[in-house]
Amino acid sequence: MSQAEHIRWFRGAAPYINAFRGKTFVIVISGEMLRSKLFEHLIHDIALCHHLGIRLLLVHGSREQIDDRLREAGIESRFHRNMRISEKSAMPVILQAIHDARSSIEARLSMGLPNTPMSGSDISVISGNFVTGMPLGVIDGIDMQYSGKPRSIDCEALRELLPRHIPLLSPLGYSRSGELFNLPSEELAAEVAIQLGAEKLIFFSRDYIRRDRSDQFSTAECLQLIASGEASDSLQALLGHAVHAVQQGVERVHIIDSTLDGALLQELFTREGAGMMVTNRFYEGLRQASIDDIGGILELIQPLERAGALIPRSREQLELDIDHFLVIEKDGMIVGCIACIPDAEARIGEIACLAVHPEFRNAGFGEQLLAAAEEQARKAGLERLYILTTRTSHWFLEHGYQPASLEMLPQGRQRRYNEARKSIIMSKTLD
Ligand SMILES: CC(C)(COP(=O)(O)OP(=O)(O)OC[C@H]1O[C@@H](n2cnc3c(N)ncnc32)[C@H](O)[C@@H]1OP(=O)(O)O)[C@@H](O)C(=O)NCCC(=O)NCCS
Repeated sequence: MSQAEHIRWFRGAAPYINAFRGKTFVIVISGEMLRSKLFEHLIHDIALCHHLGIRLLLVHGSREQIDDRLREAGIESRFHRNMRISEKSAMPVILQAIHDARSSIEARLSMGLPNTPMSGSDISVISGNFVTGMPLGVIDGIDMQYSGKPRSIDCEALRELLPRHIPLLSPLGYSRSGELFNLPSEELAAEVAIQLGAEKLIFFSRDYIRRDRSDQFSTAECLQLIASGEASDSLQALLGHAVHAVQQGVERVHIIDSTLDGALLQELFTREGAGMMVTNRFYEGLRQASIDDIGGILELIQPLERAGALIPRSREQLELDIDHFLVIEKDGMIVGCIACIPDAEARIGEIACLAVHPEFRNAGFGEQLLAAAEEQARKAGLERLYILTTRTSHWFLEHGYQPASLEMLPQGRQRRYNEARKSIIMSKTLD
């Protein structure tokens, strides 16, 4: 990366850094991830996020480590419905494997040798009996023995720790009777994220689905993916947890590429991301603009103005018109905007300055901005809207706008029509 690219990247990350400070993210480190050669880098990236003020809670898995240990002890791993049957005789081995997995994360997060990425990073990781568990019981006639599910989570204690420490939860549930249950880490993480009201729940997986239009999936789309069988078994399970978490109030669940070095940072701090995101907040970023958005709007529209797609608009003009703007904000960034400038007397309004950031196009943002602007125009009593466009006439045609003549514009606007630009005039009657 050249120095200029480096600086551009850092600047691009700034809004995310601001937006994430003080937010709670629950990250699952699977047994597979623990074994990966990327594990050490992931720990560095986790440490970086912690130092940027993100409140992190880690949940680790141990499936592979338990399999290894059982194999070494000559004990067969038994599963039912893809869940381990944790037999009483195997529990000491299972507990040892979980203990080893937890220790390896604690050890890595404690490193701080000079001249390493962890140099000077002083992180306190805290594990404890925050989770009580209960037995899964008998499923399809099979006793799951010491395999359990979360029963309660001491969120009060975790919330107190989060601002300064990284709580690390093992896939274990303590019971009132002093027994320990082996819990599925993904389910535990989803429950913790829900109960803490976390902003993000993050899984790593080899399997995830990318598509051209957008890497955001609603819960309805995830349920379709599960039903269609398009996703692998392991991805289906993760999607199931993601849907549950989002439906219960977790804002976003990320399923990130476990094979990509730096995937966590790429997903969190760049627009491209590194996996898929499940959220029902797809359209929630649409809102009325305020004076504080002017910088963000300028950043969005200036490249389009330079390219001739939008008529140049000064900061002063923007300030005057700001009450007529709607914006879409995503993770603290303005990624779309539109203005509807009314001529209340003539009951007509101009749709202007419609722009969607190139990396967020073809995901319906443009359509949604237009629909919202039209709705506002209706509410304001306007009967007709018009638009002057050089390159987007077909898009407007598809949204119910018809070619119109100069005479239908309000007199003042007719006078300001730029003959040289040869914009096509289109209009729509509001019903
Ligand atoms: C026009 C614009 C706002 C659309 O935003 P968007 O969020 O991508 O729009 P949507 O997702 O709602 O619609 C995308 C669809 O419109 C199509 N589309 C995009 N630009 C188009 C154009 N100029 N003409 C015809 N169709 C177009 C896309 O191909 C896509 O079609 P598909 O669903 O069949 O794949 C965006 O392309 C943009 O910012 N363009 C530059 C600025 C501009 O020209 N603004 C209009 C000023 S009058």
